[in-house]
Amino acid sequence: MAVLEILTLPDERLRQVSAPVTQFDDELRAFIADLEETRQAGPAAVGIAAPQVNVFKRIVIVDVSGRKNTPNHGYLVLVNPEITHWDGFEMAREGCLSVPDYTGNVIRAGKIRLSAYDPLGTPLEFEMEGYEARAVQHEMDHLDGTLFVDRVVSRRTDLFRRKVYRQGGPSA
Ligand code: NI
Repeated sequence: MAVLEILTLPDERLRQVSAPVTQFDDELRAFIADLEETRQAGPAAVGIAAPQVNVFKRIVIVDVSGRKNTPNHGYLVLVNPEITHWDGFEMAREGCLSVPDYTGNVIRAGKIRLSAYDPLGTPLEFEMEGYEARAVQHEMDHLDGTLFVDRVVSRRTDLFRRKVYRQGGPSA
């Protein structure tokens, strides 16, 4: 296992669109183990996406179970995730391992329905809400080269510079 280097803004590689996973093999699972180790090494990281470590495959990890009073499905590896239903809108603060100096207010769907595969290629379906749904939407944006800073309504009023990395909430 290894902690991988995280690409940060303005690295143009973060803008690449990632390709679907086609082989559910040991190589995939070894990469996922490294990706999880990298997430755990990051400050308060509730999620991570493969392109953040320079691997352009549609793989994300989300785990918001450490947050109090947050409905969640625990530790989730989502391969080739697809959102099949959106419902409602909520504004909340987000951070990102690839944007270490800022947090921002972003509007996301409040509830989603999601299909994906686990690391063995087994199909998964979830209904999610609140912070977990937000984290999944944030991570899936990375798969299409989108960062939360692209989604703030106003860079002047909705972006906030972090004084200390851990201030301003978790990253994803
Ligand atoms: Ni992020």
